[in-house]
Amino acid sequence: MRDVLILNGPNLNKLGTREPEIYGSLSLSEIAAACVAFGEQHGLTVDFRQSNSETDLVDWLQEACESKTAVIINPAAFTHYSVAIRDAAAMLDAPLIEVHLSNPLSREEFRHTSLIAGIAVGSITGFGLNSYLLALEALSKL
Ligand code: DQA
Repeated sequence: MRDVLILNGPNLNKLGTREPEIYGSLSLSEIAAACVAFGEQHGLTVDFRQSNSETDLVDWLQEACESKTAVIINPAAFTHYSVAIRDAAAMLDAPLIEVHLSNPLSREEFRHTSLIAGIAVGSITGFGLNSYLLALEALSKL
């Protein structure tokens, strides 16, 4: 089994009730449970976390850097402006995959910039829960 840290940024704790027409009706804990179960089937031990704080996300990326753990990250709004999260992610030796529930490129222009995309192995966007599951499947084959 290989460890993978799945990190989620601000407001994703409100999934299920937050703009369901964009983000779907699943809660974050339902997404977490699906990721843990899918990971197990693909040889991955999933540690699923969420924070509204940039500090927590930077600390968790530094932890992944030290333990050489692979990361799947949905930085949420931080995607579009956090240099601190990009800099922390850039230190990782293990692979990092960017995911989004929605497709930011089909939305407002301010969402078209991703500071994390350039240092990710790849980005999977627009498939709701399946963005996370596809990322896990991709990681299991890396
Ligand atoms: C999001 C897209 C971001 O633009 C937005 O700020 C989010 C969620 C997504 O998963 O679709 O909070 O990362």
